[in-house]
Amino acid sequence: MFTQQAPNTARAQLSEGNVEIIRQTLPVIGAHINEITPVFYRTMFANHPELIADTFNRGNQRSGEQQKALAASIATFATMLVDENAPDPVEMLSRIGHKHVSLGITADQYQIVHDNLFSAIVEVLGEAITPEIAGAWDEVYWLMANILISFENDLYSSAGVAAGDVFIKAELKEKTQLSPLVTEYTFSGQGFEKALPGQYTSIGVTLPDGARQLRQYSLIKTDENSFSIAVQKDGEVSNFLLENVDLSDVVDATLPAGDLVLEDNAAPLVLVSQGIGSTPMTGMLSHLVATQNPLDREVVVLHADANEAEYAQRENTNNLVAALSERGKATHIATFREQDELLNLDQLFQEGKVPAEAQWYLCGGNTFLQDIREQLEKNTKLAPTSIHFELFSPNDWLVS
Ligand SMILES: Cc1cc2nc3c(=O)[nH]c(=O)nc-3n(C[C@H](O)[C@H](O)[C@H](O)COP(=O)(O)OP(=O)(O)OC[C@H]3O[C@@H](n4cnc5c(N)ncnc54)[C@H](O)[C@@H]3O)c2cc1C
Ligand code: HEM
Repeated sequence: MFTQQAPNTARAQLSEGNVEIIRQTLPVIGAHINEITPVFYRTMFANHPELIADTFNRGNQRSGEQQKALAASIATFATMLVDENAPDPVEMLSRIGHKHVSLGITADQYQIVHDNLFSAIVEVLGEAITPEIAGAWDEVYWLMANILISFENDLYSSAGVAAGDVFIKAELKEKTQLSPLVTEYTFSGQGFEKALPGQYTSIGVTLPDGARQLRQYSLIKTDENSFSIAVQKDGEVSNFLLENVDLSDVVDATLPAGDLVLEDNAAPLVLVSQGIGSTPMTGMLSHLVATQNPLDREVVVLHADANEAEYAQRENTNNLVAALSERGKATHIATFREQDELLNLDQLFQEGKVPAEAQWYLCGGNTFLQDIREQLEKNTKLAPTSIHFELFSPNDWLVS
């Protein structure tokens, strides 16, 4: 699922009287939002237990990361409505929309979130929430919800499916251990559409307690009706895949989604990853090899890992870069923490190993991404034409 049309924030305007109310109450809601979201999720899951069992990621609920991401996204959106100098949060909305369609979220569920969110606001802030204040925040909520609903409908239409109808059955065809922690899985699945390079699928498994939990995995290779992912052993779903899903077993999978998509243009390309973050880069490299890198782009792959053995995509990346370098300039540089090596863009640039005016795609942990972005921002000689990034945990917009 993909559309070139970004979420449309242009028409999002509060009615006149509500601008001042939101401006005045944003600090108080902001100050309490981290109390409001846990109450919201607790109430919603008590009223709709199927949502925590089958739709939401209960690992993210335990860690509180999803709570933070929801709170931060609403505060960011409300700020845009009352401050004309605030940036347009279009990238944030796009990321949320893609995540929602990869889980089959539908418009009717926005009423459920609304009702439980507003009852949580009243529970936490009590009488401070007058009908006028509630009305103004209601308007913020529905402005945001309607932008998301419309964008999500466009994404569903892009795949020619009805809203929410994104689940297929996928049968495991191959299972190969790539490194001590990472295993590659190849599935066949009738109706799986070919992904754009960089996209992910949500894989759903039914756990021993009956919950159908979903997690996102970047696609390292796709074809009509078949796809491969590489999964790092971590918590409940990744361990379940490793220990309980064998050849011929069937899992749920969703149609490809995600907006970290390789743009087709001739600009040099730099792919930077850390740890398991190399998977979307493998998807992009596979695409460039399969399509003969039609624009003859210069490609540089930079990767940081603990040590050689843990770099699960090392061999795959070496092969893909070798195939690309037969036709143009392609290099692969890996650094290993245990050998006291860090990715130093300044040094790589001085040594002529990374091009100026390139498009950059980044994927890794929060701290790694922030470090690379800071290095890019400081090093004006590198002059990136654009920087795209993917995070494997809910984004609370600290790195946006
Ligand atoms: C767009 C996207 C693409 C992704 N691509 C990939 C990919 O290609 N490959 C890949 O391996 N992963 C990928 N991920 C991550 C993946 O979706 C899962 O998050 C990951 O596999 C962990 O899921 P899990 O069920 O195994 O762990 P969970 O059970 O969800 O646990 C997650 C983490 O939280 C910890 N945890 C759980 N409960 C607690 C607690 N109570 N207190 C403290 N810590 C706790 C666990 O130990 C674990 O480290 C991607 C994520 C996104 C959003
Ligand atoms: C205006 C309303 C909404 C807002 C502002 C919102 C915001 C968000 C944000 C910020 C994320 C995290 C994205 C990321 O990974 O970085 C997210 C994910 C998610 N949202 Fe929403 N959302 C809304 C409505 C809904 C609705 C109606 C549902 C369906 C019940 C829903 C279900 C989910 C789920 C299941 C996830 C994945 C989170 C996880 O599993 O941890 N959301 N949303």
